[in-house]
Amino acid sequence: MPKVITIERHLLEQQRHFPQATGAFTNLMYDIALAAKLIARETTRAGLADILGMAGATNTHGEEQQKLDVYADQTIYRMMDHTGRLCIMASEEHAEPLHIPDHYPCGSYVLLYDPLDGSSNIDYNVSIGTIFSIHRKISEGERGTMADLLQPGYRQVAAGYVIFGSSTMLVYSAGRGVHGFTLDPSIGEFLLSHPDIRVPDKPKYYSVNQGYERYWSEGIRRYVEWLTGRDPEGTGPGLSLRYIGSLVADFHRNLMTGGIFMYPADRRDPAKPHGKLRLTYECAPLAFIAEQAGGYASDGVNPIRSIQPHDLHQRIPFFVGNRELVERVEEYIRRYDADWVEQYREQTRLAQDEAVSV
Ligand code: AHG
Ligand code: MN
Ligand code: MN
Repeated sequence: MPKVITIERHLLEQQRHFPQATGAFTNLMYDIALAAKLIARETTRAGLADILGMAGATNTHGEEQQKLDVYADQTIYRMMDHTGRLCIMASEEHAEPLHIPDHYPCGSYVLLYDPLDGSSNIDYNVSIGTIFSIHRKISEGERGTMADLLQPGYRQVAAGYVIFGSSTMLVYSAGRGVHGFTLDPSIGEFLLSHPDIRVPDKPKYYSVNQGYERYWSEGIRRYVEWLTGRDPEGTGPGLSLRYIGSLVADFHRNLMTGGIFMYPADRRDPAKPHGKLRLTYECAPLAFIAEQAGGYASDGVNPIRSIQPHDLHQRIPFFVGNRELVERVEEYIRRYDADWVEQYREQTRLAQDEAVSV
């Protein structure tokens, strides 16, 4: 009989590699897995329960909230606020940090999350997901502060995502490889189905919203020409386009097949000069996963892991996937978008100086 490895067994086995472990991280991951099961239950019957459609409210970004956005956000918070494992949280759905209620104990971990990613797809049965990032508390005192939330990606203790699709999978890394678990609804357990995920050397797909091509910089336009083998020298890899508009679904597929996901800075929305995706709870956790799987992630200028966040909901350009594909887009941006790079560096420096001065 094949060995059945539940996520609980996997986490306990991994914990043995950390002699000083108290079990708090292991229990935190259990809590995340349970929240994932509760959200999965709602997503699989979204069409039946009164959980489809708009919640009739907007979030901190002025985006229409779906009922499932709100459900996922509340479920994660309620599973985490009393356990004594966290000192503070942050969610895409809330402008301000989420503090642990005074009547509950605080712990030494920090959780940032996108409760439901790809929510514009919920009503059309397209895969959606949850993304999470875990840091260690660095501030003094019992309760967490903004400084605990605004840590650069290289300090993440762990990161992962749940993808609610043809099956529900939880994919995570705690710095010792990337491991995928598939939910067996008949027993309510996440079972190890994809141990040690590695990005395949030969990439298959590129993912970008081609509908915004007219807003791209020259570097991005030329790079996509290269990707699809239309560059003058014809040296490009000739990848196929796959873009579903759900970051977790696009990221997961490319992680398994090899490729690059891109959400570049574009001139479409002056309010979002640096693209749409958020650094702390979308790009940094997925960058952690990608690098643990042998890939790489960049904002086109810097490695994502190196970026010091200056705002909880700061947006950055995002390129993630096979290392040579991501390094190549950095080259194109250096070569054709030098003025933009200078402006981007200046804007980032000013924003960081302003954050420090507050
Ligand atoms: P969220 O639903 O958490 O706001 O994220 C949506 C994001 C991401 O999932 C996806 O890659 C991107 O929006 C798609 O944006 P465009 O429709 O502009 O391509
Ligand atoms: Mn998202
Ligand atoms: Mn979201």
